[in-house]
Amino acid sequence: MADAAAALEQRFPISVKFFDQPILAIESSCDETSAAVIIGRRVHSNVVSSQVELHKRWGGVVPEAASRAHVEAILPVIEEALQGAALSLEEIRGVAVTNRPGLVGALSVGLTAAKTLAFAFSIPLIGIHHLEGHILSPWSLETELPFPHLALVASGGHTELVWVEAPGHYTIVAQTLDDAAGEAFDKGGRLLGLGYPGGAAVAKVARTGNPQRYELPRGIDRDPNYFSYSGLKTAMMRLVEKEGSELHIPDAAASLQHTICSALTKKSEAHLERLGAKCMTLVGGVAANQELRNQIQAACSRHGATCQVPAPELCTDNAAMIGLAASFRLARGERDGWELDAYPNAPLPNLDSIQL
Ligand code: KG4
Ligand code: ZN
Repeated sequence: MADAAAALEQRFPISVKFFDQPILAIESSCDETSAAVIIGRRVHSNVVSSQVELHKRWGGVVPEAASRAHVEAILPVIEEALQGAALSLEEIRGVAVTNRPGLVGALSVGLTAAKTLAFAFSIPLIGIHHLEGHILSPWSLETELPFPHLALVASGGHTELVWVEAPGHYTIVAQTLDDAAGEAFDKGGRLLGLGYPGGAAVAKVARTGNPQRYELPRGIDRDPNYFSYSGLKTAMMRLVEKEGSELHIPDAAASLQHTICSALTKKSEAHLERLGAKCMTLVGGVAANQELRNQIQAACSRHGATCQVPAPELCTDNAAMIGLAASFRLARGERDGWELDAYPNAPLPNLDSIQL
C-alpha cells in the first residue's frame, strides 16, 4: 500500500480546476442553516444560522423542529450570504446544495430553495454529498491540500477514516459500528450534566481535569477498521451511578475526552502507517477539539506526515465546504437535473476514473 501511495504521489500533486464564476452554496442537512458564496476556491461569504438553542431543551436534534427552523432561516441566510459577497442573485452562475446524507425533512428545505433559484435564474444545479464537503473543507485558498491523504471525519453523525486519492476518489478504511465520536461527547456530556451539545462543554470542563483518573473503554481496541462508542456510553452511565455525588466532574470529562480522542488517534495511526500517508486531515465538528488536534498532530509527527485542520468555522457544518466541493465538480461539467432528490443515507460519490 505504501508503494501504491508513492505511485499516486507521482500522479498528484494535481492541478484541479475550479469553477471560476460565483456559486451559491446551501447546507441544511442537520441543525445548521447555512449559505455561502464561492468563486474558484475563494470563500466570499459563509453565513451559518445555528439551531443549538432550539434543540437544547430536548437534549438533541428533533427532526420536525429542525425542518421548521430551516424554513424560517433559509431565505434570510441566503440574502445575508449574497450581501456578504456583494453580489446579487442575477450574478450567481451555479447553485450547490447538500442533498445527502442527513435528515430528509431538513435536506428538503435547502434542496427546494436551491432548485427554485436554479430554475428561476436558469443556472446549473448540483447536489453535494455532505461528507465530501467535510473532506474537502481544508482546501481553502490559503491551503494547498496534498493528495493522496488520509481524512479523519469526526462529527455528531459520522466517524470515518477515508483514504482520499484525489477529489472524487474516496475509500472508507474505518468506520463506526454504533455511535459517532461527536455523539459520544454529547451523550457523555449529558450524563455529566453539562448540557447540549456536549463536545465543547466537555472540552472546557476537561481543561482542569485529570484524564487518567477514571479508566474507560476505548471500544474494539484491536481492530483498526472499526470504531465503537456504545461501550463507553454504558461505562460512563455506570461511573455516574457508582460515584454519585463523589464523582469529580472535571476528571470524568477529561477521562471521557481522552478516551474518545485516543481511540480516534490509535486507528488513524494504524492506517497512516499501513498506507504510508504523507498527509492527514482532521475534519468535522469534533476537529475543533484541542486534545484531538494535539493527539493527531503527534501521531502525524511520529509518521513523518503533515497534519491539516481547517479553520474552526469550516469544521462544523457550513455551506462554504459544500461550495468548495461543488466548485471542482461544476468545473468538470457535472450538473444535476430537476429530479434531484434528498437521501438520508448515501455512499461517498466516486468518479469512475482518476481524470481531472
Ligand atoms: O460537523 P458537526 O457540526 O455536525 C455534524 O455533521 O454532526 O459536528 C457537531 C459535533 C457535535 O457532536 C459536537 O458536540 C461536536 O461536534 N463538537 C465537539 C467540539 N465542538 C463541537 N466535540 C469535541 N470538542 C469540541 N470542542
Ligand atoms: Zn457535518
